[in-house]
Amino acid sequence: MSKKDIYGINKWGKGFFEISKKGNLALKNPFEKKNDSVELIRVIRELNQKYSPPYIIRIIDYLEYMIYQIHQNFDKSIKEIGYKNKYRGVFPVKVNQQAQVVEKITSYGKKLDFGLEVGSKPELLIALTQKLSKNSLIVCNGIKDEEFITLCLLSSKLGIKIVIVLESIRELNLIVKISKKLKILPLLGLRIKLTNTISGKWSQSSGDRSAFGLPVEKITEVISILKKNQLLECLILQHSHLGSQVPDIIEIRKFTQEACRFFCEITKEGAPLKYLDLGGGLGIDYTGQNKSISHSINYSLEEYCFNIVETVKLQLDKEKIDHPVIITESGRACVAASSILIFNILDTTIFDSKKCPEITQKDHIYLSYMKQILNYLEKERLQECFNDLNYYRDELRILFRNNQINLKDMAKIEKTYLFILNKMKSLLLETKEISDDVLNTINNLADIYHGNFSVFQSLPDVWAIDQLHPIAPIHKLSEIPKRRAVLNDITCDSDGMISKFVLNDGISKTLPVHEIKNDEDYYLGVFFVGAYQETLGDLHNLFGDTNVASIKLFKNSKFKIIHKQVGDKVSEVLSYVEYSPSKLINNFIKIVNHKQNSDILKLTEKNKLLKTFKDSLQGYTYFEN
Ligand SMILES: Cc1ncc(COP(=O)(O)O)c(C=O)c1O
Repeated sequence: MSKKDIYGINKWGKGFFEISKKGNLALKNPFEKKNDSVELIRVIRELNQKYSPPYIIRIIDYLEYMIYQIHQNFDKSIKEIGYKNKYRGVFPVKVNQQAQVVEKITSYGKKLDFGLEVGSKPELLIALTQKLSKNSLIVCNGIKDEEFITLCLLSSKLGIKIVIVLESIRELNLIVKISKKLKILPLLGLRIKLTNTISGKWSQSSGDRSAFGLPVEKITEVISILKKNQLLECLILQHSHLGSQVPDIIEIRKFTQEACRFFCEITKEGAPLKYLDLGGGLGIDYTGQNKSISHSINYSLEEYCFNIVETVKLQLDKEKIDHPVIITESGRACVAASSILIFNILDTTIFDSKKCPEITQKDHIYLSYMKQILNYLEKERLQECFNDLNYYRDELRILFRNNQINLKDMAKIEKTYLFILNKMKSLLLETKEISDDVLNTINNLADIYHGNFSVFQSLPDVWAIDQLHPIAPIHKLSEIPKRRAVLNDITCDSDGMISKFVLNDGISKTLPVHEIKNDEDYYLGVFFVGAYQETLGDLHNLFGDTNVASIKLFKNSKFKIIHKQVGDKVSEVLSYVEYSPSKLINNFIKIVNHKQNSDILKLTEKNKLLKTFKDSLQGYTYFEN
């Protein structure tokens, strides 16, 4: 039994996940580090008594912990650096709009004056109905219409601190008009387009060409319109957002520095700015590499907070401007770790041949040449063997196409090919210099493990932007995985494939997996899926939302499932695409009755068929046990 951490769980999962003595993936309680961890497979077994995978498992403790950590680390830096104001977090609702998530964030965050950031009317309605503290802010970004602005202004009469962030001059003119009409003064913010750019996937959301915010030349125009309408007093917040998943701490420092310059200048213009909102961007180390590269970050949360507070203090002190309340809109960092997608493997396609077929006189001469490769197969001649192997197989395939080799012989050829290639696979591990050709073919011969999930529904960023999430089995971690696989989802789409994995020793095109014995369940977890994935997902092939279970961790490895959300039923996804389930039943009954009249269908068969049709409508969209 080995407990080697092949998947890098101790790197990317630091503080949240570990491998238990029994070799299961276990959830640590970050608040109570001395508590024994909870094996995730136990949660799955409990859910399986009533439901079927795939599941999203939401660990509420992780959600609360991240909010607490962000707040605490800012607080600590503020004290250490002697910063003369506070930190206030706001959660950007777009990162995970699920009611369970937003409600947990606001109820836990109330004592920390955590607020919400919204970017649309539906998100505004969510925010307005949460129980926020009297000091919490609702920051309204995005494009706003008359109804949006009216709602903000009238809601401010309820004592809700709601800041309308100006994105354009058009919006400002609309606010001036509505505010005069309602005789309510707005709390205003100003979104600034900074010139600093970031590296990584979200670089386009930074710099001159970013879609949001006002460029320098428009800021002065905003200030004069505000002055002209006696509304400059209302401008209390300055906002900017560098982009998501910023990989490099230096970029955060430079961005903060630039934001501070604007803050000082706008203050000098007479605006009573009180809040400096630095947007999102705090990243997640998905690979555990701690580097300034995609899917990783080269800083800790502590460093992030310290760098921001220190930079703001230095910049503002230089220009003798009072320290503002610092706001960040961390979304990814708050919620990513709290959700895990769990799915079972339904089937495997194995590119392997355990035995080399016997070659007889009757076989084609190229097949015996092919087998002879085994006589000179060695590390130093790997490339040569690979070239020969493919040459013979290609020639034999031509003969098959030309009707000179039959199906049985072709099967023997393919088995011999796979047997030799698999021998090469084991040699490959000892060889450093190898051409990409050989490497690709060998990688292409990885098994395909077919998982009960939809990439498009549950991991849309994997499909759309090549997002890398750590993936690992949640059990059998003390057994050495003897196979390598890529993952295929349940949709009928070749894009529903995952072929990039985080491992302890780097990124790999294949995932080490265990052999699956007959009827045995094999579960994989995809980690850090709490940010952006749930609502960005789509209904490709009509696979709907998965079952979701929220859990809390307790002492002595105990856990409690505190909320279950049943995934979409077939009837629900059909109605999303405008089919009426009752009409479908009636149509099907007509079709069945018509056939029954012609005596094709027995009565028992008819009843069973109709029952199965109706049951299917009420069932889960995924494969059910
Ligand atoms: C304005 C704004 N604030 C906050 C965020 C959240 O960013 P992150 O998830 O990187 O914290 C975003 C997302 O890109 C955003 O556009």
